Amino acid sequence: MLSLGLARVSEAAALASAWFIGRGDEMAADQAAVDAMRSQLNLLDIDGVIVIGEGERDEAPMLYIGEAVGNSQGPAVDIALDPLEGTSLTAKDMPNALTVIAMAPRGSMLQAPDVYMDKLAIGPGYPKNLVTLEMSTTERIERLARQKNCTPREISVCVLDRERHSKVIEDIRSTGAAIRLISDGDVAAIMHCTDPKRTGIDMYMGIGGAPEGVLAAAALRCMGGQMQGRLMFRNQAEKDRAKHSGITDFNRIYDRTDLVRDHVIFAATGVTSGSLLQGIRRHVDYFEADTLLLRSKTGSLRRMRYRHPISS
Ligand code: FBP
Repeated sequence: MLSLGLARVSEAAALASAWFIGRGDEMAADQAAVDAMRSQLNLLDIDGVIVIGEGERDEAPMLYIGEAVGNSQGPAVDIALDPLEGTSLTAKDMPNALTVIAMAPRGSMLQAPDVYMDKLAIGPGYPKNLVTLEMSTTERIERLARQKNCTPREISVCVLDRERHSKVIEDIRSTGAAIRLISDGDVAAIMHCTDPKRTGIDMYMGIGGAPEGVLAAAALRCMGGQMQGRLMFRNQAEKDRAKHSGITDFNRIYDRTDLVRDHVIFAATGVTSGSLLQGIRRHVDYFEADTLLLRSKTGSLRRMRYRHPISS
């Protein structure tokens, strides 16, 4: 029952932000998603605490890290969420904006500070540690190609289009592999690795938000696939932020199970369409929303289609 509740939470956020698709106002889109997600989340029978949210308490008035959520009448759980993963994708009506929420037993998710994380992900079915963050970019691609029994030219890697990735991009190109450059949205990008035939993506690599890294790990715990992440600090203030979250080893490489240490339920609803999920569609008298609902305990994946009446 709680998984259905979680799907409702992500649906509510997606429906609220849908009014802002293509309207150039990232803040308004995000705020609508935050408000809707929070209201729906507080209806759930959980004693929840946000470990990945909109930011520290002094920066985010709602859904901040440490905020108690739910009606306190259920299990003690950690909540990781991103009410709108891809604010800019939504504002510009570009693919793969999602609303995302994950729930796991209390104390089982890494309380990742709002810093960067170097991430590496591949899909399921490969030997453990086939690719690692310690390997060079070219070695990762060559090893994956060998395992897939193909040449590097047949490998496709997804990377965030950022100046900081210019060397990684150059190195990928030197192997002959293809690159899908995305402007935003690395949770969806990492999820793409779990189904290369459908999405065309074999591997994700590069630096993005650490909170998004925990959300992606939650998805992969359910869908299968490997992921590693290492926090990246730009200054002492960021290290202090990590210390505040209980992190002491700043160079640690986390794998999927270090980021999410217990069974997890994960829900994501499409805001704009992509290869994993269709975005919100407006019909004459209802909106339609598509949600992926995942449970790591059973490995189940549900695709849910919801019709939300437009009240006249
Ligand atoms: P928002 O939804 O907050 O806009 O973040 C989107 C995102 O692209 C993430 O998917 C990614 O991890 C992060 O931003 C990258 O950060 P930056 O834009 O600073 O490179």
